[in-house]
Amino acid sequence: MLFERFAAKAARSVAMGLLAAWAFASGAAGAQQATYVGEAKCLSCHNQENEHFGDTQHARAFRGNPKNDRERQVCEACHGPGSLHVANTNDKSLIIRFTNDGVTPIEVMNGQCMGCHGGGQRQHWAGSTHDTNKVACSDCHAPMERHSKNGLLRRASITQTCYTCHQQQRAEFQRRSHMPVPEGKMSCVDCHNPHGSITRPLLKNDSVNETCAACHAEKRGPFLWEHAPVRENCANCHHPHGSNNERLLVSARPFLCQQCHNPPVGHPGQFFRGDQTAAAALAGGAQSARVIGRSCQNCHVAVHGSNHPSGARLQR
Ligand code: HEC
Ligand code: HEC
Ligand code: HEC
Ligand code: HEC
Ligand code: HEC
Ligand code: HEC
Ligand code: HEC
Ligand code: HEC
Ligand code: HEC
Ligand code: HEC
Repeated sequence: MLFERFAAKAARSVAMGLLAAWAFASGAAGAQQATYVGEAKCLSCHNQENEHFGDTQHARAFRGNPKNDRERQVCEACHGPGSLHVANTNDKSLIIRFTNDGVTPIEVMNGQCMGCHGGGQRQHWAGSTHDTNKVACSDCHAPMERHSKNGLLRRASITQTCYTCHQQQRAEFQRRSHMPVPEGKMSCVDCHNPHGSITRPLLKNDSVNETCAACHAEKRGPFLWEHAPVRENCANCHHPHGSNNERLLVSARPFLCQQCHNPPVGHPGQFFRGDQTAAAALAGGAQSARVIGRSCQNCHVAVHGSNHPSGARLQR
């Protein structure tokens, strides 16, 4: 049994390779080996679990059109060979369980799934934040029951599945201005790959900007006159999930611009005199175009960059 579990994962890493060697040694020393008993045997006791299983892609593939011996084993393709479990159903360590109570190590659970689903989107699973934080495939997926239209997820939608753990992000998407995730127009996987990626934090593309440009291509440029912080990172000015300022801005204007342009070169970013506020203007002062309405953008309209020959100051 131990040997079976670990041998399947032997190639995954040097550390696991060592473990496998250890398991092999102890297995060879006499521990009893489990063998496959077949689906019919499992169903003789587990009819309840089988009730919804028939609706899943797994049941359809394994029963209707198995591509190899492993798929033909149906239940045991995931739960491992079951003869020892059948002989002693009280000992929880004799079958691979996907219940998160520490009896079956998470690496073993995930190893079972990766045996068939390695590669593809999961190319960067090993060492990803979810992997190293001991998140199991079965924390997001319920491969025995169909709750979602696609992807055999634990909840009806991708976003709800993520929210079971990511409460802070749920709150961020409730803010006044937010990406249309709560409206169901997009989901977390439009920007993230939960299975791992080469970028922090699990972004689907190579950088924040590439991720945004997938939909907001007009902001990618190239521009004749670039605005340096845009080229560097959209998150300099936008919170990608949501914010209480308009347009997902990280702070209100003119403070947003003043964070970097204060003291500004050329002309001051703040009032010339104390009577330039909108309120003071009512009492006879002159309000400053720098702080009312769209603030700096009353003049610097092309804040993402300009292609106008004389747009060097982002005014057109
Ligand atoms: C003789 C009846 C019997 C047979 C045959 C049997 N099981 Fe079980 N199984 C049980 C019992 C009893 C439990 C313990 C249930 C509990 O603790 O609630 C159990 C528990 C399990 C669990 C653990 C559930 C959990 O707590 O997460 C899994 C997985 C499982 N069986 C899979 C299988 C598979 C796969 C087969 C076929 C290889 C199989 N069983 C065959 C009776 C059986
Ligand atoms: C594709 C992998 C896979 C296959 C195939 C599979 N299971 Fe499971 N099984 C799981 C996972 C993952 C869980 C964790 C619980 C869940 O999904 O809700 C589980 C849970 C269970 C449980 C624990 C009870 C529960 O609902 O939590 C039992 C018992 C069980 N499976 C038996 C079976 C039997 C019998 C079969 C064959 C008819 C089978 N499994 C086929 C992956 C699989
Ligand atoms: C943090 C949540 C999460 C974890 C953990 C996770 N997945 Fe997924 N998985 C998803 C979501 C969400 C989708 C749907 C993606 C889509 O529709 O584009 C998905 C899709 C899939 C698909 C179908 C699409 C494809 O790539 O072929 C497979 C297979 C899959 N996951 C396997 C796994 C395996 C194996 C593991 C464990 C190594 C795992 N997943 C871990 C969230 C997760
Ligand atoms: C024996 C090989 C095998 C094992 C083990 C296995 N799967 Fe699958 N899985 C498949 C096949 C085959 C399909 C159907 C693929 C299809 O329809 O294109 C599938 C489908 C899926 C899908 C749905 C893909 C979609 O397009 O909706 C998800 C999610 C998934 N598996 C996750 C898992 C998880 C999580 C585990 C581990 C608990 C697991 N699988 C174990 C072979 C396997
Ligand atoms: C079972 C709990 C769980 C679920 C469900 C879950 N995550 Fe996570 N996620 C974690 C943990 C734990 C971490 C690491 C600690 C942290 O950053 O909170 C994490 C971290 C992340 C990170 C930050 C990565 C980094 O490098 O900083 C992203 C992005 C993420 N998850 C996206 C998702 C998405 C998208 C989904 C849904 C498809 C999802 N998560 C579902 C537990 C979960
Ligand atoms: C519009 C694209 C987009 C969507 C949709 C999105 N994210 Fe993010 N997310 C990002 C970007 C970009 C970052 C990195 C922010 C940074 O580097 O400052 C991030 C960061 C994170 C982090 C790391 C912690 C943090 O705030 O920096 C987590 C966790 C996370 N996202 C989870 C989620 C979850 C869960 C969902 C779905 C409910 C989701 N994200 C939807 C783009 C997105
Ligand atoms: C999958 C496509 C997609 C991706 C990727 C994407 N967006 Fe969006 N974005 C949208 C949609 C759809 C809207 C809503 C447009 C509408 O309602 O008119 C939107 C709206 C916005 C808005 C305006 C919000 C408002 O209040 O009007 C900003 C700012 C924005 N996105 C920034 C970003 C940033 C920054 C990123 C990268 C972290 C990003 N987007 C990635 C699709 C996307
Ligand atoms: C220097 C700050 C700054 C940076 C960096 C920045 N933006 Fe913006 N963005 C703004 C401001 C300010 C607005 C509001 C414009 C308005 O009200 O006309 C805005 C508005 C938007 C809008 C909604 C209105 C529109 O023009 O479509 C989108 C979408 C957007 N930004 C995407 C992006 C993307 C994608 C990036 C990264 C390539 C990015 N922004 C980088 C400041 C910035
Ligand atoms: C994260 C810092 C940052 C933020 C926020 C920011 N800028 Fe900039 N901005 C820069 C940098 C850096 C340059 C390039 C300066 C240079 O080339 O000397 C620049 C250049 C400019 C220029 C062109 C000036 C020149 O000399 O080429 C204008 C106009 C401008 N920004 C306006 C704005 C406005 C309006 C806002 C608010 C919507 C804003 N900036 C927000 C960092 C920022
Ligand atoms: C009433 C129109 C107007 C408003 C409002 C305005 N600017 Fe300007 N700004 C200009 C003009 C005109 C120039 C070009 C001056 C030149 O070419 O010598 C300029 C130039 C700049 C430059 C480049 C400085 C340089 O050395 O040429 C920066 C940076 C800048 N503005 C930032 C801001 C910021 C930040 C705000 C908001 C706090 C703001 N501007 C509001 C009209 C405006």
